[in-house]
Amino acid sequence: MPLVSTKEMFEKAYKGGYAIGAFNVNNMEIVQGITQAAMEENSPVILQVSAGARKYAKHNYLIKLVEAAIMETGLPIALHLDHGENFDICKACVDGGFSSVMIDGSKYSFEENIAITRQVVEYAHAHGVTVEGELGKLAGIEDDVNVSDEDAQFTNPAEVEEFVSRTGVDSLAIAIGTSHGAYKFKPGQKPRLRFDILEEVSKRLPGFPIVLHGASSVPQEFVAQVNQYGGSMPDAIGIPEEMLRQAASMAVCKINIDSDLRLCMTAAVRKHLCEHPDHFDPRQYLADGRQAIQDMVRHKIRDVLGSSGKA
Ligand code: G3H
Ligand code: 13P
Ligand code: ZN
Repeated sequence: MPLVSTKEMFEKAYKGGYAIGAFNVNNMEIVQGITQAAMEENSPVILQVSAGARKYAKHNYLIKLVEAAIMETGLPIALHLDHGENFDICKACVDGGFSSVMIDGSKYSFEENIAITRQVVEYAHAHGVTVEGELGKLAGIEDDVNVSDEDAQFTNPAEVEEFVSRTGVDSLAIAIGTSHGAYKFKPGQKPRLRFDILEEVSKRLPGFPIVLHGASSVPQEFVAQVNQYGGSMPDAIGIPEEMLRQAASMAVCKINIDSDLRLCMTAAVRKHLCEHPDHFDPRQYLADGRQAIQDMVRHKIRDVLGSSGKA
């Protein structure tokens, strides 16, 4: 089976009241851990690549790793550009074999966002590739862009119909209180998402797939494990999984998770190296990191996203 676009995945997910996990990949162990879990659960999955991942692992290596995962699992897998910041990177990914791209024009004005998103949609659609746009700004850090809490902005539901009709995007990322990274809320702050905005957006865009970025839940046991084995992570708070389950049952068809994978892999590698100070074969500690990712993704698919058995 070749790479699939997100179109059919989202149609089924919308009707079925579940979401597809979009997990960030940066190396072989991460690709293997995610796709092994998806295979065990017979779940569709989106593997997404950021500009930072392309810089770190290189485009061709990532493409070949994902092709290998498709050969190994036979699953419907979409390969998606995460947070494409301009037309050129989106074009490079369309030309270079991705099946889906995100153009993140959220830092621009409404009109500029529409213009750049429309340009990407025209090119991508002509090549059979789906496009995710973004309206509203998430707080947090991605690559070199650091959006402070004050600069973050919830999506304005009054703008979504015009944005979608003028750009032709296939899915829309919205800001309802999630943010990137492991520190989503201040210590003592109660996590809260604006489900009223999500509901209003989905009323205005019936049947249209919505995307939730910044959806790691930052399980405390992994923060504790990092710190138990020599790390020093400050208190971190993520999105409660119950809220993600609620979003998945609504119009949210794609849920982005990266920080949880980083966290569980780091916790496992730290534990391994502390418990086996004599080990120096990377296969020994990376195998534990890969297993931690597999366990985490299995849990997300089965207990949070609801996409088990939907491949
Ligand atoms: O939203 C951003 C993702 O977590 C990717 O992070 O840009 O550091 O690869 P990155
Ligand atoms: P997290 O940092 O919450 O994992 O979000 C990842 C993300 O949105 C990637 O686009
Ligand atoms: Zn994101």
